[in-house]
Amino acid sequence: MRVVEDIKEMQSIAASAREDDKKIVFIPTMGYLHEGHTGLLKRGRKLGDLLLMSIFVNTIQFGPAEDYKTYPIDIETDIKHAEKAGVDVLFHPDKDKIYPEGYQTFVEVRHLQRNLCGLFRPGHFVGVATIVLKLLNIVRPHIAIFGEKDYQQLVVIRRMISDLNLGIDLLSFPIVREHDGLAASSRNSYLTPRERKSAASIYKALCKGHELFEDGEREVRHIINGVRRILEKEHLVSVEYVKICDLDTLEDIYDIDRIALLAIAAKIGRVRLIDNLILVSS
Ligand code: PAJ
Repeated sequence: MRVVEDIKEMQSIAASAREDDKKIVFIPTMGYLHEGHTGLLKRGRKLGDLLLMSIFVNTIQFGPAEDYKTYPIDIETDIKHAEKAGVDVLFHPDKDKIYPEGYQTFVEVRHLQRNLCGLFRPGHFVGVATIVLKLLNIVRPHIAIFGEKDYQQLVVIRRMISDLNLGIDLLSFPIVREHDGLAASSRNSYLTPRERKSAASIYKALCKGHELFEDGEREVRHIINGVRRILEKEHLVSVEYVKICDLDTLEDIYDIDRIALLAIAAKIGRVRLIDNLILVSS
């Protein structure tokens, strides 16, 4: 596995792979790899000839009061995980090379960024879309893979790829969970043992929502109340939102008359976690 820090070098590796008709699969991450990430990597390994991943903690997607400064980093362990998952090239650029002095171009996917996390993290999806477009331009992959855990991110990027005619296939990967259902996340490492226990209530609450839906409930406010009741039992959990929305437009829905997304964002102590589940009539 090659570890590349230089943007030009990364561009030339990817360009010559394209010339050789190699199928390039790309997976962007912010590192501190866990089983969610390695799931994406293993899937990517099967889909292409050249498996590229990036590790870059993207300053501009963090708000001023968020955890950029303390975001967990362990590049040595990440390199081992990436190697084991069959990554060919790990792109690990420097912040000053990605956003040099004078940088001023940003990408806004307008409507899709408004609901859900966009309500609580202003500017976050502009930061995400901007870095992802930059990385896609550097790597020019045939396929890019994103996780369903960050469902809004996935939809935003899909829209951007389509709107800007990037000609890249975007594939999504299901949420990888820990033993008690908590979605794997780099931020789980911040949790104290007590907080970690409480965090399991997020998945429990999603399951409650699913159960109500399966039992025939279609009124969103009833499902949301059921979900909130589970979360409110845990005093370490403070709910940011519980929402049910359209899978494509991400607009709130009130009666579930189509496939829908049940999404939660909550803080456990100072740690913000998100998770979701798709409600489909069986
Ligand atoms: P990061 O949080 O490192 O996640 C990288 C990719 O892994 C994303 O596509 C995310 O959805 C996926 N992922 C994370 N946890 C997962 C889980 N438990 N199951 C399945 N997939 C999971 O998302 C980002 O980084 C950044 O916003 C990025 C796209 C790299 C732009 O900076």
